[in-house]
Amino acid sequence: MPTIRFSTSDREVEFADGDEVNLLRVAIRNDCGIPFKCASGNCGTDRVRVEAGADHCSTPRRRERERLGELFDQGYRLACQTYVNGDVTVAWDPEQIGLDAGSKVYDKLRQVWLAKDDGG
Ligand code: FES
Repeated sequence: MPTIRFSTSDREVEFADGDEVNLLRVAIRNDCGIPFKCASGNCGTDRVRVEAGADHCSTPRRRERERLGELFDQGYRLACQTYVNGDVTVAWDPEQIGLDAGSKVYDKLRQVWLAKDDGG
């Protein structure tokens, strides 16, 4: 089965062959620690560096490229905008601050985000 490796939190999550899963959704569902604030491609908080498996990531849309700027050329993606169909390894700056996991906003966004049924 394909595996997503979250280097920064030292976690791994497998998913079914043939699936295409959203990177942030997998991270949230499995408590893998990628920070996030908007889950909609606006804030850039969930930027991750793809250390391996870039070929297994979805083609970025223009908006994601623009949001990342030069970081895109350095191998970064926005987890909320990235779908994965094979083995990948991602890492992020542990200093990145997302929503407080104990906050109401976090809970609400997590519920809404996980309710979507489009992979992961
Ligand atoms: S969480 Fe804000 S851009 Fe992905």
